[in-house]
Parts: sequence; C-alpha cells; structure tokens
Amino acid sequence: VSLKPYNTFALPALAHTLVRIAGDADVRAVLDHPRLGPAPKFVLGGGSNIVLTRDLTAVVLKVEVRGLRLVQERSDAWIVEAGAGESWHDLVAWTLDQGLPGLENMALIPGTVGAAPVQNIGAYGLELKDRFESLDAVDLVTGRSVRLDATMCRFGYRDSIFKQALAGKSVITRVRLRLPRPWQPVLGYLDLERRMAETGITSPDARQIFEWVCEIRRAKLPDPAVIGNAGSFFKNPVVTAEQCRDIIGRDPAIVHYPMPDGSFKLAAGWLIDACGWKGKTVGRAGVYEKQALVLVNRGGARGAEVVTLARAIQESVYGRFGIRLEPEPVVV
Ligand code: EPU
Repeated sequence: VSLKPYNTFALPALAHTLVRIAGDADVRAVLDHPRLGPAPKFVLGGGSNIVLTRDLTAVVLKVEVRGLRLVQERSDAWIVEAGAGESWHDLVAWTLDQGLPGLENMALIPGTVGAAPVQNIGAYGLELKDRFESLDAVDLVTGRSVRLDATMCRFGYRDSIFKQALAGKSVITRVRLRLPRPWQPVLGYLDLERRMAETGITSPDARQIFEWVCEIRRAKLPDPAVIGNAGSFFKNPVVTAEQCRDIIGRDPAIVHYPMPDGSFKLAAGWLIDACGWKGKTVGRAGVYEKQALVLVNRGGARGAEVVTLARAIQESVYGRFGIRLEPEPVVV
C-alpha cells in the first residue's frame, strides 16, 4: 500500500500491511491474529506529523475511529468526545456549530483527533492540554482498553507520554475535551492582538476568533493539500535567561518569550530566517517562503531530502547561535 496519500508531506513510502481501525475491537483482532499479532506495529493518524524516509515493514494501524458527540453538560464545562480518526479541524468547526466554544484558537491544525494528544498540539495561545479531559487507548501488548487523564498523559510543549514511554505502545481511539463554562476568549497572541487593533473589534466571539485564526494560518502556513509539509519542522528552543541575554547581546532583534519558570522560548522560525534559509530549496525539499519554520515538499521529494535539508539548517543555526534545533515531527 502506498503511504503517499496518508502523509501530509506527500513523501513516497510503502506499507507491507495496512489495517484500518474503526474501534477498540479492531485493534484486539490484529493482536489476536496469528501472523499480525506478534509483528511490530506502526500507528498512523492523519500523517501530519511524520517524515517517512523508508518503507514500513511494521503493520500499519490506520486509525479511523469516528464519532463526535457532547457527552456531558456540567455547570463548569461541556465535555465532548471525538473518535481518534476524525479530522481535528472538523471537530473544532463542529463544536462551534453546536454552540460549544473553546477550541477556536486551534482551528485549521492539520491531522486527526487521535494525533492531537500525542504532540500536545497548540496554537495562538492555547494547547490541547488546556482543553483536555481524558482519552481512551488500547494497549498494544495486552490488548486492554485504558482511560488516561491529563496527568497520566504527561503533556509538555509538543510532547506527551505517547512520544516517550508509550511511544509505539498504544493506540488512542477516543479523546474527550473539556470546554470551560463560561467561555472566555484567549487573545494574548500577537497576531490576534493585531487583528483586534486592525478591525476595532475588542471583544470578539468564538466564531470571530476562529475566522481570524483561519485567516492568519492561511496567510503564512502552506495548505498540505497543495504543498506537502508537516507544519513547524522544529520545536521552538527553550534557553536559560543567561543564554538569552547572551544572544540578545549579539542579535538584539531576536524574537523571545519569557516562560513562567524564568527561562525563555526563542522563535525557531526567526533563527532559521536569520541564517538566510527562508525560501531556499535543496534538492526537492525547501523552506517555505512565508514561514521559515516550515519545510516543504517542492514536488516529488523523498524523505531523505527533507532530512538532509533539516540537518543543514540545524548546522547553520548551531554555527551562528550555538542552539540545537530539535525536529518536531517524528522521523521514521
Ligand atoms: N518569524 C520570523 N521569520 C519566519 C518565521 C517566524 O522572523 O520565517 C518570527 C515571527 O515574526 C514571529 C515569531 O517568529 O515573531 C513567531 O512566529 P509565529 O507566530 O509564526 O509562530 P511560531 O513560533 O513560528 C508556533 C507553533 C505553530 C503555531 C504558531 C502559532 C511551534 C513549533 N510552532 O510557531 O505550530 O501555529 O506558533 O501559535 O511551536 C506546528 O506545531 O506545526 C505549528 C504550526
């Protein structure tokens, strides 16, 4: 099976075996299967956070669990549940249509609901963990269904237990989100403040924020349906206050944000841009012209070309700033 249509970078790779998972029972059927059971497994969601550099001999479990529903109306929150195979953006749009605001800042993030907790997706001042209630997953060793709450998921910046101790060990099948009542807008992100200033709208509703976020993303992020990409290719690096002062001393324009613990997060896109990479192409992989943090497939690229470009960028950022950029998607 070609995996090209199943990864947003549109990289060529084959899967020897691909099984579609519509529910927990399908996972158990694979585990009980005489040939597939003992084989290694690879869990595939929307393929929006992977860089495929080779064919997969592992059994690919393509998660297609469906369903969107409001499961609980509490005085302090609405709880909605979504199948892991639903599109994340469709979930965001559906909640707004149902009059359930709270996810609008995370509109238009590519990928599936099940992939959202894996890397704790986030944008425009909000992260999945801020709206997370619990999830169901099937353990790939025991076949048991388990429920994990936020603490058990160990969410961090673009990180969770599913990228660490549980990497490759479980299949997320359903996710529940908590939308706090009363709704309060999250407007701290610079791009949103700009929209408020430009339009004179000082108290936007959730629908307005949704539309702004969609506009902002469309203006600077490539649509994977048109240009293959996996969103931000590197995490924004976190440095100590001392390191940050050092870098500012040399480059006063550097974009940096103070973190609650006294450290600073640097804009990786700015660092890459400052090294002159924006719009560059190496082989058939390139750096997006409107956002240097996004690597793109210029057409027909192989995973190895993307990785080669990523390494060259890491080297030049390290050479100039002494900072090691860490890839954000999973390189297979
Ligand atoms: N910048 C440049 N040049 C560039 C790109 C960015 O100078 O080519 C500067 C911008 O001017 C801005 C700063 O860097 O001042 C930050 O840029 P931006 O607002 O675009 O956000 P980001 O830090 O690059 C992060 C997330 C995105 C998320 C946005 C908005 C990570 C790795 N990326 O990007 O998430 O959409 O903030 O919240 O944290 C993703 O994870 O795939 C993703 C797209």
